[in-house]
Amino acid sequence: MTSTNDIRRGFLDFFEKNGHARVPSAPLVPHNDPTLMFVNAGMVPFKNVFTGLESRPYSQATSSQKCVRAGGKHNDLDNVGYTARHHTFFEMLGNFSFGDYFKDRAIELAWTLLTKEWGLSPDRLTATVYHTDDEAFDLWKKIAGLPESRIIRIPTKDNFWSMGDDGPCGPCSEIFYDHGEHVPGGPPGSPDEDGDRFTEIWNLVFMQFEQAGGEIVSDLPRKSIDTGMGLERVAAVFQGTTDNYETDTFKALISASQALTSNNGESAASHRIIADHLRTSGFLVADGVFPANEGRGYVLRRIMRRAMRHAHLLGASEPLMHRLVPALVAEMGAAYPELVRAQPLIEATLQQEETRFRQTLATGLRLLDEAAEGLEEGGTLAGETAFKLYDTYGFPLDLTEQALIEKGLKVDHAGFERAMGEQKAMARAAWKGSGAQASDDIWFDLVEEHGATEFTGYSGDEGEGVVLAIVKGGARVDRAAAGDTVDLLLNQTPFYGESGGQTGDSGKLSTLKGFQGEVEDTSKPLGKLHVLRTKVAAGEIAIGETVHQMVDAERRDRTRANHSATHLLHAALRHRLGTHVTQKGSLVAPDYFRFDFSHPKALTREEIAEVEADVNAQIRGNEPVTTRLMTPDEAIAAGAMALFGEKYGDEVRVLSMGRGAGADYSVELCGGTHVRALGDIQLLKIISESAVSSGVRRIEALTGEAARTWLVNRDDKLREAAAALKSSPEEVPVRVAALVEDRRRLERELADAKKALAMGGGAAKADESGPEDVGGHKFIGQIIDGLNPKDLRSTVDTMKQRVGTGIAALVAVNDGRASVAVGVTDDLAGQVSAVDLVKVAVAALGGQGGGGRPDMAQGGGPDGTKAGEALAAVKDALEKVAA
Ligand code: SER
Repeated sequence: MTSTNDIRRGFLDFFEKNGHARVPSAPLVPHNDPTLMFVNAGMVPFKNVFTGLESRPYSQATSSQKCVRAGGKHNDLDNVGYTARHHTFFEMLGNFSFGDYFKDRAIELAWTLLTKEWGLSPDRLTATVYHTDDEAFDLWKKIAGLPESRIIRIPTKDNFWSMGDDGPCGPCSEIFYDHGEHVPGGPPGSPDEDGDRFTEIWNLVFMQFEQAGGEIVSDLPRKSIDTGMGLERVAAVFQGTTDNYETDTFKALISASQALTSNNGESAASHRIIADHLRTSGFLVADGVFPANEGRGYVLRRIMRRAMRHAHLLGASEPLMHRLVPALVAEMGAAYPELVRAQPLIEATLQQEETRFRQTLATGLRLLDEAAEGLEEGGTLAGETAFKLYDTYGFPLDLTEQALIEKGLKVDHAGFERAMGEQKAMARAAWKGSGAQASDDIWFDLVEEHGATEFTGYSGDEGEGVVLAIVKGGARVDRAAAGDTVDLLLNQTPFYGESGGQTGDSGKLSTLKGFQGEVEDTSKPLGKLHVLRTKVAAGEIAIGETVHQMVDAERRDRTRANHSATHLLHAALRHRLGTHVTQKGSLVAPDYFRFDFSHPKALTREEIAEVEADVNAQIRGNEPVTTRLMTPDEAIAAGAMALFGEKYGDEVRVLSMGRGAGADYSVELCGGTHVRALGDIQLLKIISESAVSSGVRRIEALTGEAARTWLVNRDDKLREAAAALKSSPEEVPVRVAALVEDRRRLERELADAKKALAMGGGAAKADESGPEDVGGHKFIGQIIDGLNPKDLRSTVDTMKQRVGTGIAALVAVNDGRASVAVGVTDDLAGQVSAVDLVKVAVAALGGQGGGGRPDMAQGGGPDGTKAGEALAAVKDALEKVAA
């Protein structure tokens, strides 16, 4: 017997030996085709190579491509398990020529592999050709020596292969294996072709044309070859069976399933379903798809839950699927190392999904039983009830239907849709009531029409999307032209929409028809739609067109580093300051980030230094960042820190980073984009710590190149300071401290000198004038430049002592302004008021008011040049009092 693994290896070895580059399978989520949910054929990753958009360093390739057909056009889900050859996951072996060889070599290689290398009997093989393809007909005769009776012309689309409505296509030639007369069925094209006797094992497509909208629009730049061989079918041929589920890989998975459950005659289909869906679930999770209620995640959830329902039917009382993952990895891990790497993630995801599903199932089935009790055989369950099961208990409609079929009942679909519509209307009304913008109506409409848009940017920053809507100035339009700035909604996008504190992405858009757009920002209205604010730089864009999207990757990388650093900072703060620290907000931009958190007082220099050192130690540890998907409750139970004020959906991403004492250093719920390994952050530098409000602190920080540049600038400044001080950077602190001390001393000495001057002592006596007689009173008036106003009163007191009995007036001028004080000795109380005198001085100085007590009053004015006038005014007033 030739094992499935041997056949895969043999195929790839054969083509490699014959000049083909061995290309690893692309991930199941296609990044180059927005119309496809999953890669569903071996040629999908090469689509743009066929059409000439992309070039590769080879012109011949071979691969074993992972494929999923479930959801969308190829929805075989309900058949899987009940037939011999339906799968949701399968492997397609292929050889490809990109403008290199064409029909003759393709047929020759196929024939050599099948009959010479693998030794299949030529008598067992039949070929079909497109009815007009005489060339292929003749080549089969010439190269393979097939009799004309076994080269069958087929006039239908079966022998004209295309990807769908768009893309490369061409006539094809299929090779069939005859299992022998004992199996019922006829050759292709015959009335009983649907029997199992003749199995199509290999399809050779002679790629020649390009289609758009279902019409052939051009010849491909070069004629090419795309072949696809279903590995499961060929394994069946080699292993002498017509049933793919009887081959080695499936037998191993089925026996693992049987070992864990009951195994009676009626359970065959359930085991097959489990085996098939296990493969699909495992490979999808390994490629980054997680169960969700929309999009690809929903298809995965349906597949998982279908298998889980059968596990339940088989009597499994505990989650089962995750326990089968080791068998899957043992069978397929050698060929697909991603499966080995993702094994823990696959197991955890399956276990969580099954645990939740069992709860849903128990509640839902009980309610369903109650609702069904009143119905007669052939009756219909009310749509509203089905909707309640769906909405409140998470019981999918197809599951309700399945369970009812077993009881001979149906569901009122129209009623279900109606109930769903009413609920949406209510959600919209509630949203409006919350004071949202009128323009949100458009987003509500779009969510209803198209559902949430899919973010593909966790794993890449490039990819195609189909334009679903264009919004210009608050209104929906069909197209936009150069000069317009519009909001574009695409069915899927790698552009991150602003949320969870992370700013939206910017980047570029283009189409083959010459449209060029600059995405200035991306938002996420209603938390569901990714909306690209786009300036049309050239050409036109219209609804339905396919757009190539390119996120500004350098900017995104800086944002990623800042976002991951925010998580590490959060963890470090909690470790150092205590678990009272919780996030109160954050802003993650490409050039910096800030993080607000609860803490009652300012951080000390030491605390900041420790936190910064802790984060940098994690960065140097360079541990990979891992993502898991959970319900919010599960995530919080797993120790994840939930973000303040964030609304979480049914599923949340849980990010784990770094290594702490026996656990992950940081575990947080987060939908943002993050580094793959912590070393990508390079460096963290905290640049400020401040208060936001009582009990909330804010840290601002930089990472990577921005942090390095900041440090370099700081260093430059220090050098400049050192140069000005004529010292070295190391000595700057000591030198500055000495300078500050010197300055303090000098200021003190200067103040003393000025006081002494005012008192008539000291060296500078020039301004001093002895008491003069004004209106019969002794009067001293003085003006001092630069006297500190706070020394004014004490100086006037001293002047009063000097005058003995009389009046002292002092004007101090500082920076152009003047302060004035007037003192009157106590024995003149009742005769002269210092308050009256100071008021006239203040007026002369251009000021207002002035006041104090009758023996000492003070004031000031803006015009220091009028100091002399102020003293003259005081004297004037004094004379008037006396007269
Ligand atoms: N593209 C063709 C198919 O999927 C041959 O690989 O059948």
